[in-house]
Amino acid sequence: FQHKVLEGRRVLITAGPTFEPIDPVRGITNLSSGKMGYAVARAAREAGAEVTLVSGPTALPTPHGVRRIDVLTAQQMHDAVMAGVGGQHVFIGVAAVADWRVANASGQKIKKAEDGGAPQLEFVQNADILASVAATTSLSGWPYCVGFAAESENLMAYGAAKREKKGIPLLVGNIGPQTFGQDDNTIILFDESGHTVLPRADKLSLARQLVSEIAKRLEQRSLL
Ligand code: C5P
Repeated sequence: FQHKVLEGRRVLITAGPTFEPIDPVRGITNLSSGKMGYAVARAAREAGAEVTLVSGPTALPTPHGVRRIDVLTAQQMHDAVMAGVGGQHVFIGVAAVADWRVANASGQKIKKAEDGGAPQLEFVQNADILASVAATTSLSGWPYCVGFAAESENLMAYGAAKREKKGIPLLVGNIGPQTFGQDDNTIILFDESGHTVLPRADKLSLARQLVSEIAKRLEQRSLL
């Protein structure tokens, strides 16, 4: 990294999918590979930050020098993040957190019914981790919150609106439905003064650019 632009900063990052159990051997997950979040963790570490990565199930190696906490469910991710958020300067939510969990998950493996009937799953909404962190920021001013958004359409309109709705200073939009699992990505940064497109590149170079952008904004904030 050109400069240690995040030297002395503590950065908390979520990455990967979550896994929501249906029974002890089955569950619901999504196509997030964790590649973008892991690239952001690596880039933040290269920039000198002390990085904690709260990760859903992925097959990726832990980036060098990064402290990693493994979780399975959205609730576990929420609890790990809230337990670790004190003293953090930056929170970056890259994880594809399940919006719902199964309310009537079974303690035992569900058996196939003789009559061909299927289990009736009920869902309950998971807590929004980013919103919970943003709520603590409104009290202490820290951490600086960055969210990600994967939209399948109207990214420009949804991105700006989602930043406002989430109450965060910086939202990163992924262009196109094909970002999951890919090595490349195109991202758009939405902040209070508009948007900036970071053109298609591999996820690590985009992550490094994002880290510089975050460092710039932290710098500006400390000058205010
Ligand atoms: O609202 P949406 O899920 O599209 O927002 C995506 C952003 O919110 C991502 O940064 C994601 O990590 C975060 N998020 C979260 N907890 C949830 C859902 C999303 O932290 N339950």
